[in-house]
This record gives sequence, structure tokens and C-alpha cells, in this order.
Amino acid sequence: LTVAVLISGTGSNLRALLEAASDPSYPARVVVVGADRMAEGLQHAADFGVPSFTVPFREFASREEWGAELADQLRAWQPDLIVLSGLMRLLPRDVVAEFAPNIINTHPAYLPEFPGAHGVRDALAAGAEQTGASVILVDDGVDTGPILAQERVPVFPGDTEDSLHDRIKPVERRLLIDVVRRVATGELDLSHPA
Ligand code: GRF
Repeated sequence: LTVAVLISGTGSNLRALLEAASDPSYPARVVVVGADRMAEGLQHAADFGVPSFTVPFREFASREEWGAELADQLRAWQPDLIVLSGLMRLLPRDVVAEFAPNIINTHPAYLPEFPGAHGVRDALAAGAEQTGASVILVDDGVDTGPILAQERVPVFPGDTEDSLHDRIKPVERRLLIDVVRRVATGELDLSHPA
């Protein structure tokens, strides 16, 4: 299975996937990494010899034009699966339409709890005693797609956004690597994710 990963930040989930995919027995490989800015995580692609591209959001007059360029870049690689892993942008509707259902997203909360760009902060602000990590199918909404995998993560007293996120990320990575494996083996059919 060929995978394109889109990031905006440190790319720790990307790195985990790159490491998993460097095992010849893992049934998927990352063929390209894309970012909406000069993301730190692009270095992981370079470390693993994986091509990358950036489509800087701020260089485009609209989300739609940004999305059109992103779609052009992705289309060139013909990936079987697109993984949004820390991409902090909503994809325009027609980009989702072009690649769905082969787009999945990782989210640091137990969806449908705490969707959106600040899931970790929102869980803390809500005083939640547990939150989680989720891998979902991307649809037109914000973190509203069918849930492919999720797991609870405890919140401890005194947690900060960073300490909680650091507890969530390893769970997120494990779920992501397993979901991609299951898609690659055909065990998980994204057209019928139930
Ligand atoms: C991840 O928790 C991802 O789910 C969320 O932002 C974080 C990105 O972390 N959207 P990284 O860039 O993979 O380190």
C-alpha cells in the first residue's frame, strides 16, 4: 500500500509510521510527505529518504486554491491512502471528494468528544478524567468521520496540555500504525468501515 502523509508540525506520528514502514514485513510504505508550511516534521521524511513537498497555506489567496494545489501534488503520487497526521488545516470539500474514502486522520481525543484543533486543551479545560486517541475516516465535517480505531487515555491531576498530549501521542501512533496495516492487508475496507 502506498501512503502519502500530510503534516503541519513536529511529525512524531509521521516518524512512527516511517519507522514501522522501514520493516520489510510491514505492508505499507510512505511514498511522499506533504506539509502546509515548512514543518519541522519534513526532516523525518528527509531522514528516511522519502520525497516531500510543501504547499504553504499563506501563499494562496483562498483555501480552495491552496487545496487545488495540494490535490495536484497528491494526484501526482497516486497514493493508495492519505494520512492526515497533525495537519492543522481543513481540506476543502472537493479535495476530500477526490480522495475519499482513502483519507484518514489521527486525533488526540476520544471522538466524538473534543473534536477540532484543540482536542487536548479542550479535554483539560472540561476537567475530563479520561480522554483518548482516535483514527477516523475524513469526511466533509470536522473530525466527524466514521471511527476506525480509538482508545482511552487517562488524564492525571496536574496534567498540562503538553504532558497530556505526550501521553496521548504514543497511543495515537500505535493506533495509526495498526489501522494502516489493516487497510494494507484488506482487513479494513475504508469503503465499508463499519
Ligand atoms: C497529533 O496529536 C495529531 O493528532 C494532532 O496534532 C498532533 C501532531 O503531532 N492533530 P505530530 O506533528 O505528529 O507530532
